[in-house]
Amino acid sequence: MKPFMKKSDWWKSSVFYQIYPRSFQDTNRDGIGDLEGIIQRLDYVQWLGVDAIWLSPVFQSPQKDFGYDIANYYQIDSTFGDMATIERLILEAHQHNIKVIMDGVFNHTSDQHPWFIESQTGKTDKSDWYIWRDQPNNWTSAFGGSAWTFCSQRQAYYLHTFASSQPDLNWSNPAVREAILAVQRFWYEKGVDGFRLDVFNAFCKDDRYRNNPRRWDVVGLLGGLFYGYIGQEHVYDRDRPELVGVLQSFRQLANDYDAVLIGETLDERFQYQKAKDYMGEDRLHLAFNFSPLHANLSNLPKVLADVSQEVEYPAWVWSNHDFPRQSKRWGNHPNRGKLMAVIQFLAKGVPFIYYGEEIDQPQVSLRRREVVDPPGKKFYPFYKGRDGSRTPMNWGGKNFCEQDIRAWLPIKGTSTVEQQQRDPTSMLNLYRRLISLRKSESVFQTGSIKWHPDGFMRSYQGERWFVALNWTCHPIACPDIVQGVEVVEGTIFDEHTIEPFGFGVWKLS
Ligand code: NOJ
Repeated sequence: MKPFMKKSDWWKSSVFYQIYPRSFQDTNRDGIGDLEGIIQRLDYVQWLGVDAIWLSPVFQSPQKDFGYDIANYYQIDSTFGDMATIERLILEAHQHNIKVIMDGVFNHTSDQHPWFIESQTGKTDKSDWYIWRDQPNNWTSAFGGSAWTFCSQRQAYYLHTFASSQPDLNWSNPAVREAILAVQRFWYEKGVDGFRLDVFNAFCKDDRYRNNPRRWDVVGLLGGLFYGYIGQEHVYDRDRPELVGVLQSFRQLANDYDAVLIGETLDERFQYQKAKDYMGEDRLHLAFNFSPLHANLSNLPKVLADVSQEVEYPAWVWSNHDFPRQSKRWGNHPNRGKLMAVIQFLAKGVPFIYYGEEIDQPQVSLRRREVVDPPGKKFYPFYKGRDGSRTPMNWGGKNFCEQDIRAWLPIKGTSTVEQQQRDPTSMLNLYRRLISLRKSESVFQTGSIKWHPDGFMRSYQGERWFVALNWTCHPIACPDIVQGVEVVEGTIFDEHTIEPFGFGVWKLS
């Protein structure tokens, strides 16, 4: 199957939409979303104006980390469907002018992957496909505890940056790189338009396995007592110089298919700008910048401006399957989500919408017995895990699953897609209008950006647009610069005043 509508740099002007397949649409009455469900909802995704969907992993997996533990890169997990269904999904998505990005989980596999089962024996050419040591060093797992587990069969320790059921591949072994490139080629040939690369900066490790130094700042010292991962400087188990060579080989292949590579950086210190070293013509196209997601309302404007200055095309992410939803993150005011939508679509960068954010789906607080996420189970109640942002899409009408079926996580929220589609003042319709504005005016895709205390200016080929942002809970006057100019979009009253947490968009020239 040939990739469709190839056009270099298509990713720069695209709007991406993350689908967590378990929670999008159930069609086989098991309370878990599936590929068929995604196919049925493509009309909606197209209606919204989305150019590319990224599917969280749908490959064969024991689902201990809900698909981020892959047991076969060449098969679809039966929870979600089969090969024929993903092929149809790719085809139908392309017919809807929507590209398909798969989740590339290549730092680790499941411990049930045949490669690991073979590696455990220590007797075949797969012996070195994972990281085995006679003695552990001090490296810690991002899911808590040591990053090493003893394997009685092999009488050695293996490394796992995440759960012990997710052993890390050995990226210093050229055979591993070849095998993963073959996986990518297989999916590109099926028509896939790119990969989101799970924790790509953890692929390569220090070849001498030196201990990570301790962190001596307050967060590192105190936090490290409870959660060892933040007690260390991750200088030897992450961000190693060999990584660039790996990314270059990925990019060469991606270029043959005009595919995009989007990196997810693992960084407990939220220093995502570091990822810019991994972005460029011969490496990643994009890397998520999660800094705004960790900012509070008072430092958000500065964080946004700083990211824009440091990274040419920031991948704007306001939430995802690992972090709480936006809802209430920046306060309770109903305009807040709209303000953030304006930034996501009109500031310079590439927007990644997490399914459900377009209706301001709520973050859900679950009781202990409802928690299914492994780190949530481990650290509850101090950390309740990630289920709260993974609850099923609240479609309303013909909902996520049939009424007599119990969804894998509760469906919450009073506001539904169905209701919001009918309401011109809804968040959903604002999303749709902003996406359409972004598409119709090239200034929002390629223009330069200059941040001001009260908003930002976008300029392109003599055209200038001003976007005013009211960061306060009081009404404010529209900036002088827009006096007498008609507002294109905004939460403005009496023509001169921006509502609390409101915004306005004006074309100046
Ligand atoms: C990052 C993914 O986003 C997260 O969901 C997963 O648990 C870890 N990587 C391990 O794959």
